[in-house]
Amino acid sequence: LDTKTPQYMNNDEKSFAYVSARDRWPVIVTGAIDDTYRSVSQCDDPAKLTEGKAIVAELARLKYELQHDRQMTPLRDDGEGDIAGYNAELEKLGTPTWFQAPWLFSECYLYRRISTSFSLSTHWKQYDIFSRQKMATFRSSRPAVLELAARYRELIGQMEKDKAKKGTPEHAEAEKILFHEMCEICLWGNATDLSLLTSLTYEDIQKLQGSEARKASEKNILVNDLEAAYGVLKKARDEGKAERRIDIVLDNAGFELYVDLILAGFLLSSGLATHVVLHPKSIPWFVSDVVPQDFSDLLSALAQPKKFYETQSEDEQLQDKTPEPLADKEAEDLAFLFQEWGHLYAEGQFVIRPNRFWTHGGSFWRLPAEKELVEDLKTSELVIFKGDLNYRKLTADAAWDPTTPFTEAIGPMGPGSGVNVLALRTCKADVVVGLKPGEDERIRATEGGGGDSGIRKWAWSGKWAVVSYSGGK
Ligand code: F6P
Ligand code: MG
Repeated sequence: LDTKTPQYMNNDEKSFAYVSARDRWPVIVTGAIDDTYRSVSQCDDPAKLTEGKAIVAELARLKYELQHDRQMTPLRDDGEGDIAGYNAELEKLGTPTWFQAPWLFSECYLYRRISTSFSLSTHWKQYDIFSRQKMATFRSSRPAVLELAARYRELIGQMEKDKAKKGTPEHAEAEKILFHEMCEICLWGNATDLSLLTSLTYEDIQKLQGSEARKASEKNILVNDLEAAYGVLKKARDEGKAERRIDIVLDNAGFELYVDLILAGFLLSSGLATHVVLHPKSIPWFVSDVVPQDFSDLLSALAQPKKFYETQSEDEQLQDKTPEPLADKEAEDLAFLFQEWGHLYAEGQFVIRPNRFWTHGGSFWRLPAEKELVEDLKTSELVIFKGDLNYRKLTADAAWDPTTPFTEAIGPMGPGSGVNVLALRTCKADVVVGLKPGEDERIRATEGGGGDSGIRKWAWSGKWAVVSYSGGK
C-alpha cells in the first residue's frame, strides 16, 4: 500500500532531494571510498588486499554512475530477501536514472547498493565504512556526554531516594517534567547526524548538544505531543499491567544512541516501562545509523573511559595534540552508566532486535504487510521512531500540505493500526505535517527560511523539530 500524494523527486529543484543527490551523495560515496582505501592500505593479508582494491574500484564506478546520471542498475543478489523487492521496485519505476528517481527510494538504494560490494566479498562482509566516522564524532561530543552522564547519575540517585514519595502529586508532577526533559534530550540528540556533517562543524555540534542549547531550542519544537505519549504510559502503569514495553526504532549511533539509552534507562528506572526493545539497522545505513556493532563500541568506550578519551586518535597524532585527561569524577560517572546499562541488558530489560525491513527501500505505509513485525510492535505500549529518515518513511516522503494531520499522513500506521506511534524528529528534509495553518509561511519568512523562493529551506537544517503522536489502538 502506497500513498497517492506525490513523493519528493530528485529532479525537483526546490526540494532538498535535488541538493542531496547532486552535492551530498558524491561526498558521502567519496568518504566511503577513502575509508575503504585506508583500511586496504593497512591490510597485510594479500587476498584481502586484492579484494579490497576491487571494492574500492566498484565504489568509484558507483560514484561515476551517480554523478553522470546513469541508469540505476539492478542490485546483485547477495542472498538477502530484500534484493528482489529493490529490483522489482526499480523495474516498476522504469529503471530511472539517478536524478529522475524518487528521493526516498533512490537514497535507500544507494546504501543498499554500497552494502552489496561488501556482502558479496569474502574478506569484507562485516566491514562498516562509517564506523571510524561514527566513533570519532562520538568522541568529539565529549562535553555533552559528560554533562549528561553526571546528570543521569544524579537523577537515578534522586529517584532511588524519593521512592517513598511515589504516588504523591509532587512525585507525579516531577516525573512528568522529567519525561519531557528526557524526551527532548533524545529529540535534539538527532540534530547531529553525520550525513549532514558535510555542512556542520564540530563546534556547531557541541553547541547543539548542551543543556542551555536545549532550553533555548524549546521554541523550535513546532508540534509537541509528548503529553499524549506520557498519558499512554502512565495509564498502562496505573492499570497495573505487568509487562509494559516501549520500542525505539533507532536512528544514529554515537551521541544519539547514547541519549536514546539515557531515555531508555530513565523509562525503566521510573517504572514507566518494564522493557525497552531497540531496533538497529542490519547494514551500514545513511552514514551514521546504528548497526549492532555500534552498541558494543559505545559500551567499550564507557567501560574504559580514560582509555577512550586519553588515547590519541589518528588525527591527534598527525596534529601532535594531546587529549585532555578525564577527571576521576567524570570517569566514575561514565562507569556508572556502563554498570547500569550492562545490568539492564543482562536482566533482559534492554533488548536489541534487528529486522531487515528497516533497510527496505519503501515507506512505512508498507509496514502492515510485514505481518510478524507489525504484530510484534502491536504488543508495545509505545513505538518511538527516531530521526528524520524514519519520519520521511512514516509520511512516505510525500509532498503533503503541511497542515495535514500526522495521523492521516502516516496512512495505514495511523488510527486503527494497533500501533501507538511517537515520532521524535528534527527536520532535515522537505516533508512536514501537523503544522498550524500559517506556521510554514511564518517560518519561511524568517532568516534562512526560504522566503518566497518556493523552497521550504527552514526544514533542511535540523534547527526545527516536530514531536508527533498517533494513537493506533
Ligand atoms: O536531509 C539529509 C538526510 O540525509 C536525509 O536524506 C535523511 O533523511 C537524513 O538526513 C538522515 O537523518 P536522520 O539521521 O535524522 O534520519
Ligand atoms: Mg540517520
